[in-house]
Amino acid sequence: MSRTKIVAGNWKMNKTLNEATALVNEVLKNTNEFDEVQKIFFTPFPFLNDISKQISGKKNFSVGAQNCSEQVSGAFTGEVSAVMLKSTGCNYVLVGHSERREYFKETKEQLTSKIKLALDNDLKPVFCFGEKLAERKNKLHFEIVAQQLKEVLSSFSAVQLKNIILAYEPVWAIGTGETASPAQAQEMHRFVRDTIAELFGTETALNISILYGGSCNAQNAQELFACPDVDGGLIGGASLKADDFCKIIYSF
Ligand code: PGA
Repeated sequence: MSRTKIVAGNWKMNKTLNEATALVNEVLKNTNEFDEVQKIFFTPFPFLNDISKQISGKKNFSVGAQNCSEQVSGAFTGEVSAVMLKSTGCNYVLVGHSERREYFKETKEQLTSKIKLALDNDLKPVFCFGEKLAERKNKLHFEIVAQQLKEVLSSFSAVQLKNIILAYEPVWAIGTGETASPAQAQEMHRFVRDTIAELFGTETALNISILYGGSCNAQNAQELFACPDVDGGLIGGASLKADDFCKIIYSF
């Protein structure tokens, strides 16, 4: 078993290009030597090419996009395709973040198409899922997560799963300051791995990286990353400050 450890920053709609390159400079300077962890910057579209150049040649640093179109190309004003992303030097793309599901009403068909196009263009999708507060309160969290996984991932093969990363992000923990406890995270990550085993076999399940996201920060990252089925973090707010992001990287 050789699961990649990943600490990824999801900057969302924050920073200017100058602020972004300054942040990346700081992170490079402070964590360049620590190459057990794959670091990914999920930047806004306009910064992808610059940040890709900035990290070029640096081992274990990558750039990702926060979204891509479910269409191949054509008359879709304002959209950005997977092939365009690849041409900027980026290697990863977030698919199905809860903010995209909620505000842009992304459907399972769109998410499936985005993952397919990402894989076709040699981009690794980071597929995000997670229950809402009311669903957890009603003890529906396992059911919801199983459904979110199955309705999209069942269109793919075990071979394709080798290039997909999962991110469990309980919606009640995103941007709220309320983190899942290590026990809650481990319980769900174990469940996700079991669900992947059921769909694709044990080997695939043991090798897929499952990240935790939702108010993960410099104070709680260590205990979350210590959970056996937590392979890293997808970090929102705390990835915007170099100091905090570097501390999270060193939490492994
Ligand atoms: P947060 O965001 O760390 O600010 O809660 C995580 C995410 O949305 O990926």
